[in-house]
Amino acid sequence: MCGIVAAVAERNIVPVLIEGLRKLEYRGYDSAGVALLNPTLTRLRSVGRVAELASLAEAQVAHHGIAHTRWATHGVPSERNAHPHVSEGLAVVHNGIIENYAELKAELTAAGYVFTSDTDTEVVAHLIQHTQKTNNDLFDAVFATTQRLIGAYAIAVIQEWDDRIVVARQGAPLLLGVGEEGRYAASDASALLQVTRQMIYLEEGDVAELKRGSVRIVDRNHVAVERALHESSLSADAVELGEYAHYMQKEIFEQPQALAATLEMIGGAQSFSPNLFGTDAPELLAGAKSVLILACGTSFHAGLVARYWIEQLAGIPCSVEIASEYRYRVSVPHPDTLVVAISQSGETADTLASVKHAKAQGMMRTLALCNVPESAIVRECALRFLTRAGPEIGVASTKAFTTQLAALFLLAATLAKQQGHLSASDEAEHLTALRHLPVAVQNVLALEDDIRAWAQRFSDKHHALFLGRGHHFPIALEGALKLKEISYIHAEAYAAGELKHGPLALVDEDMPVVSIAPNDALLEKLKSNLKEVAARGGELYVFADADSHVDEEPGVHVLRLPEHYGLLSPVLHVVPLQLLSYHVALVKGTDVDKPRNLAKSVTVE
Ligand code: M6R
Repeated sequence: MCGIVAAVAERNIVPVLIEGLRKLEYRGYDSAGVALLNPTLTRLRSVGRVAELASLAEAQVAHHGIAHTRWATHGVPSERNAHPHVSEGLAVVHNGIIENYAELKAELTAAGYVFTSDTDTEVVAHLIQHTQKTNNDLFDAVFATTQRLIGAYAIAVIQEWDDRIVVARQGAPLLLGVGEEGRYAASDASALLQVTRQMIYLEEGDVAELKRGSVRIVDRNHVAVERALHESSLSADAVELGEYAHYMQKEIFEQPQALAATLEMIGGAQSFSPNLFGTDAPELLAGAKSVLILACGTSFHAGLVARYWIEQLAGIPCSVEIASEYRYRVSVPHPDTLVVAISQSGETADTLASVKHAKAQGMMRTLALCNVPESAIVRECALRFLTRAGPEIGVASTKAFTTQLAALFLLAATLAKQQGHLSASDEAEHLTALRHLPVAVQNVLALEDDIRAWAQRFSDKHHALFLGRGHHFPIALEGALKLKEISYIHAEAYAAGELKHGPLALVDEDMPVVSIAPNDALLEKLKSNLKEVAARGGELYVFADADSHVDEEPGVHVLRLPEHYGLLSPVLHVVPLQLLSYHVALVKGTDVDKPRNLAKSVTVE
């Protein structure tokens, strides 16, 4: 989604803004722009990559400016819709959606303002300008404007002859950077590591004023507040590509270390402790009679796997809901439900809203399972577990997913222990399996060469089916999502037993069917399903375990994972599917890290 960078400093901030936008490219965007004060306004905008904006801005020098990458919501990707938007000498960049923009636009048009874009953001620029007519000070005008906005926003505002940047946030991420030479703001910390590690996370409704040497913040009630200064532990290297061709490839191969880091806290543990989830966890988890998991996309798939684990290990009913559905549907709340929000970014608008919806219905046992500390979802929940995947830049989620699975298994085992459902021998066995998980994933990565060869055969296909059973059905869903989002091949996943109830009609020699066939209790059932495919001429690509009795034959291709991994097998079996989609995308020449139409952090509905 949109990215914001703002800077006011002693130094020339143009390179800082451009580098910051480069660091935010991963969020997904279609156009970019910058507004600089010298002390009058210069605005530069371009459609396409930040590199084009960088060439436009090359000769510029400024100490004060705002910059933006836009992911289109209102209005097509074009230069006229690119941010910043201006109103006389005032410029605004915005991330989010202003839901009442049409009403505000009508009011401002009647007051004589002329709109030059199709965006909701231009409304904000004119509204601040208009508010200044009665409320002269820029800071006060921005505050007053925020009181009229309905929706989600992070904004940064500058004005000619004014030495400040004014920023505000509500429902979209924005943090401040405190540097030696100036003050900065950005959508995420990666954009500011070039100038500082000292970050301030704004709370919902905050409005702040940045000058070269100071920051002033008021909360939603216009009360002056101090927000804590955090030292970012993000390593600058973590957001560099290094030896890899793409972030997705890097992130797939980082999975062993991401898992090791996430599981570090159980390194020497003899048992599963609720304290892993926060200080109040022993009490909040112990009283949970059911679990409700809320998430979107890949994180939703992690939740689907967790349902199998939680019900099997802990014997607690578990439901998993797509956050964008749950937030609007009439459901039956149970106060003793543990609500688990899963999100890599911690900023996904629907997931955040779904947690708020659950809380509004009296469900206060909330646990955030996120990869980004201090993100909105983490702050919304009573308990937290932070996965330690490190920054995930590729739009296609990989290491975030496997670390979510590891964390969810910890949760399932912890709940099982609290319920008295976990024997000492099972507990020891699960701890051993978790500790060995990074090595087990490393061994699976060795299949890359074979998978690369398979990928060639997918590149001219238009459709693919993914099949799995039991806790590998969500892995089939995840494999299909990976393939469609980065290779643009239409892919669907089914629980293999469902095939004969409809999708079998699609199977012919042009339909590759990818099947996850671990050596578990459902293998024989699955093999019958695969026979149904083979009998219709479908080409089968089977990911089996070393000891699965699935044989190669004409039309049946088999790759074997090194070992069967019991309950944790989904963590291993998703890895070849990630590699398959990555290599198919390479053959097809798509933009692997920034697939068309998608954004990394979905901060709007
Ligand atoms: O940051 P989140 O985990 O909340 O994001 C949820 C989805 O947008 C995300 O998982 C998306 O489906 C992935 N990019 C797919 O690879």
